Amino acid sequence: MARPSAASLVVVGSLNVDFIAGVTHLPKPGDTIVANQLTKRFGGKGGNQALSAARHGAQVMIIGCLGDDPDGRDYRNHLRREGVNCSALNTVRSVTGCAHITVDGKGENQIVVIPGANGTLTGPSIKMQRARIAVAGALLLQLEIPLESAVEAIKIANESKVPVILNPSPVNGDFPWNEVRLDAVLVNDNEAREIFGLTPSAAAQHHDSWKERLTSKRIRHLVITRGAQPTLLISKTAVTEVPAHPVQPVDTVGAGDTFAGVFATQLAEGAELAEAIRWANTAAALSTLKHGAQEGIPYRGDVQSALQETKSSARTRA
Ligand code: RIB
Repeated sequence: MARPSAASLVVVGSLNVDFIAGVTHLPKPGDTIVANQLTKRFGGKGGNQALSAARHGAQVMIIGCLGDDPDGRDYRNHLRREGVNCSALNTVRSVTGCAHITVDGKGENQIVVIPGANGTLTGPSIKMQRARIAVAGALLLQLEIPLESAVEAIKIANESKVPVILNPSPVNGDFPWNEVRLDAVLVNDNEAREIFGLTPSAAAQHHDSWKERLTSKRIRHLVITRGAQPTLLISKTAVTEVPAHPVQPVDTVGAGDTFAGVFATQLAEGAELAEAIRWANTAAALSTLKHGAQEGIPYRGDVQSALQETKSSARTRA
């Protein structure tokens, strides 16, 4: 049995409607190519991460903005059905944000986001949610919303000693790293290179350089996901590798968001970092077995079964 989650999370972030074009190969600059199908799904990094945490058993409140259009109304109903608390989700006079996503035959993707209502989430509107952020078990956020609102939310959490987990995606060169404290930062391999200017695969050999970057950016723990390669956990004392869960992905859109929601839930429950990564790696891998950012996000019981299967097949091999 999965232990019941005692985690209460606040997610501050974006909500998009994803238009997903299936193609045989991704277009190069200047190319026109023909898609073999188009699907419309709920997405956005904030919505995806909130749903991932809710399916992992957390009590989740989302702070964000939807448009006053049918997509906004449908998205709110969808989140309510999934058990996400929408009392801090504003409806604004705008279209709901959307994303144009292209996915090739190998599951690789390109994404262009049109912010819409997400762009109206301002610093002052975050200040109005101070009481909700201040009592959270953890704050989880990404950078698909105006930077000032993400920074404001982190400052409120820092003042209230609420752990902060930041997935700084998409990367924003203006993020004021030394004005806030971050308990965990979650990035993929490309984002790690861009933000830290170092090569993740050589982290163990260059631990001192990574430590210096973590200290100057006021980050306690850095987690670097690398697809099928082991996830790296870089802390002041060590670099730890946590194996990925082996799958044949059909669509990797939203895998990082699934990881973030599960990782944050596990951490807020008090799990050790490596254990939280083990659950998150498995959930992210399972999420790639279906098309769409949210369709494949697994429930906690599915993640637990997959982890048990991995353990028993390892025992059989030994
Ligand atoms: O991380 C995947 C998400 O990125 C998609 O759902 C899309 O909406 C963009 O926000």
